[in-house]
Amino acid sequence: MADSSPELSALPTRIDRYPAKMISRLASSLVEKYASDAEHLLDPFCGSGAVLKAGSDRGLRVTGIDLNPFGVLLSGVKLQGFDVSRASAYLECLLDAAENGPEFGLEWDKKDYWFTPATLRKYERIRHAARQMNLCQSKAGRAVLLALGLSVRPCSRADQRSPKPFISKYARSNRKGRHFDPGSTARSLLEELSRLYGGRRRTSSDVHQLDLAVGSAATGELPSVSHVITSPPYINAQDYFRNSKLELYMLEGVLPFRVEDIICRFIGTERGVEGTVLLGKEAEKRRRLVPELVFLEKHRKEQAVVVHRYLQDIAAAFARVRSLMQSGGVMVIVCGDNLIGGRRICTWQVLNKMLTGLGFKLFDSFGDRIRNRAVAPMRCGHKGLIKEEIVSAFRLP
Ligand SMILES: C[S@@+](CC[C@H](N)C(=O)[O-])C[C@H]1O[C@@H](n2cnc3c(N)ncnc32)[C@H](O)[C@@H]1O
Repeated sequence: MADSSPELSALPTRIDRYPAKMISRLASSLVEKYASDAEHLLDPFCGSGAVLKAGSDRGLRVTGIDLNPFGVLLSGVKLQGFDVSRASAYLECLLDAAENGPEFGLEWDKKDYWFTPATLRKYERIRHAARQMNLCQSKAGRAVLLALGLSVRPCSRADQRSPKPFISKYARSNRKGRHFDPGSTARSLLEELSRLYGGRRRTSSDVHQLDLAVGSAATGELPSVSHVITSPPYINAQDYFRNSKLELYMLEGVLPFRVEDIICRFIGTERGVEGTVLLGKEAEKRRRLVPELVFLEKHRKEQAVVVHRYLQDIAAAFARVRSLMQSGGVMVIVCGDNLIGGRRICTWQVLNKMLTGLGFKLFDSFGDRIRNRAVAPMRCGHKGLIKEEIVSAFRLP
């Protein structure tokens, strides 16, 4: 079924491109079915904010959480809107200040691979000016930073046809010797953002950048919520860091985050996983939850370690979400399965068991076939192995 939402059909993928983004048709129908009367709706893995936008369009109070600062920036601008004329004045001021100003270098040893020297110099000047102007402090400033972040991919040497940043033979021959101008690209992106998300918003919304798998961080500032709708990360299916790395290195130090603090913290990533996760009583419990681990530990140890770490992290994140929910609250998750080391792992069933263990009661469930989602990014006919996602709705006593 094609998505008829006017917003989605108007969205060029260059604006709303996010790995494993929930399509707006599904987000809207889940909000309508399970959260139309929500006092406060949370998406704890909000990514690009599809669920939050659907909730806020219905006038609900919404809160999002994500580790990815670029997802948080995108969701925040979508939800909170911005003053269009102020944002374009900020952008002009930024570009003027960057014209001959000092540089704030990118701390990235691969930067010369992705950008021509002239583009890089312009970006490094813009980064300095953006930091001086403290753009991350205001809605209009964040819209400018988003336009700048979105300009990075088109101004890089990466193949523009791919959702993941990589330099193909096609990109090498087509983009060789060309100069990409961050200023004019950001200007046109800000115009598109202004058309889509400019103006004031009446509903209340918040988006927090934090690591949900770490028990203690900043729980104090999070609200208690009546409803949760989310699509949690799968095991090693999407590399959220790699997908946003150009944008993240560009915005590091301009937005308040450091790449080294997040790069190994994405749930399901294979970065930074350690063999010690195979030891102890908790590892034994995880083997009971996912019996395929016994095979993987014997034949595909590296992948077994990734699965253990995923289970450890997602369990911590769910416990944290549970602690934010009011009694009688509703939690809806959308998840499929994974093929790891040749073994199929029913991730959605594993997550359902975890939630049941936390006291949630399943009251509804249905499958949503991915090949039916005839909207960009086209996932029908893709070579991935996820053919269906399961929507599971739980209630707390
Ligand atoms: C399946 S995606 C969600 C996509 C989202 N529904 C959308 O429409 O864009 C899962 C999200 O979990 C986030 N994530 C991964 N590890 C996390 C962590 N430790 N804490 C918080 N969020 C995390 C990723 O950054 C990613 O945005």
